[in-house]
Amino acid sequence: MPFDIARTRAAYPALTEGFAHFDGAGGTQTPQSVIDAVSAAMGTALGNRTPAFGPGRRSLELVDAARAAVADLLGAAPRGVVLGPSATALTYTLARTLGETWRPGDEVVVSRLDHDANVRPWVQAARAAGATVRWAEFDPATGELPTGQYAELVGERTRLVAVTAGSNAVGTMPDVAAIAKTAHAAGALVCVDGVHSVPHGPTDLASTGADFLVTSAYKWSGPHLAAMAADPARWESLHPAKLIPSSDAVPDRFEAGTPSFPLLAGVAAAVDHLAGLDPTATGDRRERVRAGLAAAQAYEESLFDRLLAGLADNPAVTVYGSAARRCPTVSFRLAGWSPAGLAAALGEARLCLSSGDYYAYEYFRAMGLRETGGAVRASVYHYNTADEVDRLLSELHTLAGRRETMGR
Ligand SMILES: Cc1ncc(COP(=O)(O)O)c(C=O)c1O
Repeated sequence: MPFDIARTRAAYPALTEGFAHFDGAGGTQTPQSVIDAVSAAMGTALGNRTPAFGPGRRSLELVDAARAAVADLLGAAPRGVVLGPSATALTYTLARTLGETWRPGDEVVVSRLDHDANVRPWVQAARAAGATVRWAEFDPATGELPTGQYAELVGERTRLVAVTAGSNAVGTMPDVAAIAKTAHAAGALVCVDGVHSVPHGPTDLASTGADFLVTSAYKWSGPHLAAMAADPARWESLHPAKLIPSSDAVPDRFEAGTPSFPLLAGVAAAVDHLAGLDPTATGDRRERVRAGLAAAQAYEESLFDRLLAGLADNPAVTVYGSAARRCPTVSFRLAGWSPAGLAAALGEARLCLSSGDYYAYEYFRAMGLRETGGAVRASVYHYNTADEVDRLLSELHTLAGRRETMGR
């Protein structure tokens, strides 16, 4: 059955404003069902978590429901889902916690393809422990992250390998399972950044090989919250810095402070939204979320092919990256335009695209593009349309003939 784009778009009230959102990699729009869930939670009596009275029990239920939903999204155990304000904050917590156990001479492996959220927390924790940082390099021509190099990078002193499941700059989906196999053979742990990959296809924690997998709900139609999943037994073995009176249970002990209970209601509703993307899907929510994301993935890929073909047709466009397996995300430049100037000009045409380095700091530095403004990024999400892709391509043709004027 073809993807029902009219039905999908109707779920998002913000789309009636008429912007074409190619900035899903920076954050997606919100379905009415998520807005309603947040608003309903705010409109009911809520207390801080306690079994003593109804409103306190509701907050406990909202936390449990968000854990169960993320578990269904990732194929994790609900007790293995740590909730938090952002992927960056969760990765810092993990890096500080693991870093406490590292000794001088230990090693961590990070990649230059990763968003800085899965680089700097590890580099800083390594520095604090006197551990050595080793770098996995991408191929500048293709944006691929060759798996073979990990055999050289990982050794008996490696404590952790951090790698992305999807580059937020050029879309590359490295073979994280193969990398994890190499890391595990040496006894190292693996932290996978799923922030960019999870919205674009079914994810299964076990098959990624990740010991820790992080995702951000605002990249898949949810509120600005994030989650990190691991085997509950793994969390049991770790002891983060925490307040003395706060819960020492797993996974609560990794969650500092009081969470936003209404936004957690939005997280669960966003997973339900993904589970409804294929209305013909049956089974439990895990099965439906996989079917929904598989349907969205096929649809997004068809739009992405159209986008890439159109970009290749414009001689003024330079595209970065061409990985064989990739999320529907592309970075490019247009001759005669700075990335920021181009994004602003596209913005005037109600086309929303990010520009700069989008925190893929090491990628743009290694490419020598950072100092001159990075690039412009188009990322396709399940509410985009072929018409929007054509609008973008046609605007790029128009702008190619115009060139940026000073003082824009
Ligand atoms: C690939 C990737 N990793 C990590 C992050 C950081 O996520 P958060 O904003 O939840 O800290 C982002 C955000 O853009 C991202 O794209």
